[in-house]
Amino acid sequence: MKLVCVALFSLFFQIISFAVVSEGQKINDSPVIGVLAQEVYSPSPGKNAYIAASYVKYLESAGARVVPVMINRTEEEYTILFRSINGILFPGGGASIFSSSYAKAAGIFYKLALEANSKGDYFPVWGTCLGFEQLTLLTSGKSLLSRTNTSGVALPLNFTKESKDSRMFKDFPEDLMTSLANEPLTENSHQWSLTTARFSGNEKLRKFYQILSTNTDGQTEFVSTVEANDFPIYGTQWHPEKNAFEWTHVYIPHSPDAIRTTFYMAHFFVNEARKSLHKFPSQKEEQNALIYNYQPTYTGKKSSFEQTYYFD
Ligand SMILES: *[C@@H]1O[C@H](CO)[C@@H](O)[C@H](O)[C@H]1NC(C)=O
Ligand SMILES: *[C@@H]1O[C@H](CO)[C@@H](O)[C@H](O)[C@H]1NC(C)=O
Ligand SMILES: *[C@@H]1O[C@H](CO)[C@@H](O)[C@H](O)[C@H]1NC(C)=O
Repeated sequence: MKLVCVALFSLFFQIISFAVVSEGQKINDSPVIGVLAQEVYSPSPGKNAYIAASYVKYLESAGARVVPVMINRTEEEYTILFRSINGILFPGGGASIFSSSYAKAAGIFYKLALEANSKGDYFPVWGTCLGFEQLTLLTSGKSLLSRTNTSGVALPLNFTKESKDSRMFKDFPEDLMTSLANEPLTENSHQWSLTTARFSGNEKLRKFYQILSTNTDGQTEFVSTVEANDFPIYGTQWHPEKNAFEWTHVYIPHSPDAIRTTFYMAHFFVNEARKSLHKFPSQKEEQNALIYNYQPTYTGKKSSFEQTYYFD
């Protein structure tokens, strides 16, 4: 009798969750997000690709678990992984956005995300710094970046009027928006930028993205935050993850509002991933894919990252 009750009870809940799914409100409270690896500058045995641990902690801090997305896998392998995870983050770094294995994998996930989202299968994509540059290349199909003097500086965001009603910022506390607009809370580590002039001159980018913030290096105005109009695709030229988790450069901000910026950005993206119902075929496959199978190395004495995951 007890068993039957449990069975009925669980059936009841399955029916309820199904009903919620059909109304499009089902929320996945166990989101698993892929973080794309990239090639290391000088490979050595066991160290051919890496992920900075700050991206992992960033997503974990908002209630996600992380799966490393290895480079040099086949499209078929990426497609299987795509159906198992609830979003993907393309990190910053130094890989080529034209010819690297990082670029190739990002292109495959971008295409899969466009297809899935077009069919109502929610799948968010985030690009940070290099990942942002990669997204703008994938959308425009063109190399549009310009050199800027922004390789190690924290800046306030110059919000556009569109930011007010944006999905990304609309639920941010008013006082944090004020701080973001007036204090240097966003860390920039890039030598290339997408100027607002080039953005405006490219029809594909203009149609696809809304600019939420801009910045300038004193000479050139560039796009610093975007969200896509019709897709859950987002990018920042700056680094939301560094404020709370990287201490390797003096220009990384750590004030209370800088840390809140990290967490509100993470909260936003992980909430987007909660709208995805992708799932690993089994718990065992999920466990085997998680980043917990790897150990980060302390690299803060000689790199920009306190901790780094290395892969073969
Ligand atoms: C990825 O493939 C490229 C080209 O085949 C190769 O040069 C590189 O070493 C591979 N990297 C890894 C991490 O397997
Ligand atoms: C680059 O920007 C820094 C401030 O971030 C400034 O001190 C430096 O003079 C600038 N360099 C050039 C070449 O404009
Ligand atoms: C902010 O952006 C607007 C629109 O491009 C520009 O007119 C203004 O000068 C910018 N403000 C700062 C502080 O850069």
